[in-house]
Amino acid sequence: MTTPSPRRPTPLHYIVLSGSPRRSSVNTALAHVVASVIEARGGTQRTVTIADYDMPLYDQDEQDELGFPSSAERLREEFEGADGVVLVSPEYNASFPGRLKNALDWLSRFRPQPFAEKQMLLLSASPSMSGGNRGLWSLRVPLEHLGARVYPDMFSLAQAHRALGDGRLTDDMLQSRLAATVGSFMDLAEAATHYHCAKHVWVEFLGEPAAEPELARAE
Ligand SMILES: Cc1cc2nc3c(=O)[nH]c(=O)nc-3n(C[C@H](O)[C@H](O)[C@H](O)COP(=O)(O)O)c2cc1C
Repeated sequence: MTTPSPRRPTPLHYIVLSGSPRRSSVNTALAHVVASVIEARGGTQRTVTIADYDMPLYDQDEQDELGFPSSAERLREEFEGADGVVLVSPEYNASFPGRLKNALDWLSRFRPQPFAEKQMLLLSASPSMSGGNRGLWSLRVPLEHLGARVYPDMFSLAQAHRALGDGRLTDDMLQSRLAATVGSFMDLAEAATHYHCAKHVWVEFLGEPAAEPELARAE
């Protein structure tokens, strides 16, 4: 009698989105290193940049009259098809780039809302000594507001123009730390996807009467 082989869980799928449109972007380079770590740990992934999803500046009249741009629809589909989303974002003036905020604003208008309960990990890269870390703290605010499950640990690569090698970080200790952070995030995404032990309900603007159309964003 043959023993049945243990059931292999389907690998989790991730989208790795670089917030930089620049051709020689250090954030996109870091996104590719993250992608290699995800694949080495058995996940599947698709790496894209914000330049793949060019959108007009958000305007509610335009949304009402013309609907969503096709780029926003495509990005929404990427989010919906992913068990986890990794954002690798530059820091612009101690915050995150407007182009990324514009994409978040468009996506936030879809129903169901694509960020709700989405497992997310944040990373940054910068030539500066802080590695763009302040930008990630500001990026957390709208994401948590939208109900994303933003992983507590973040990774910021300082002096990124020197720290990025061929498909990995040049410093072994930093590469191990990056792999450990991405790996722990993947473990959490795996647990959240397959083992629903705790469920938190996100409620915005407690006390506001949701029936009024002006408050539709509180749905
Ligand atoms: C408008 C603008 C603002 C910037 N502000 C910051 C900043 O606040 N902190 C920082 O570390 N780098 C800042 N930089 C430098 C970027 O970190 C650097 O250009 C980096 O290479 C951008 O990321 P990328 O290579 O992925 O495009 C800024 C760059 C630009 C264009």
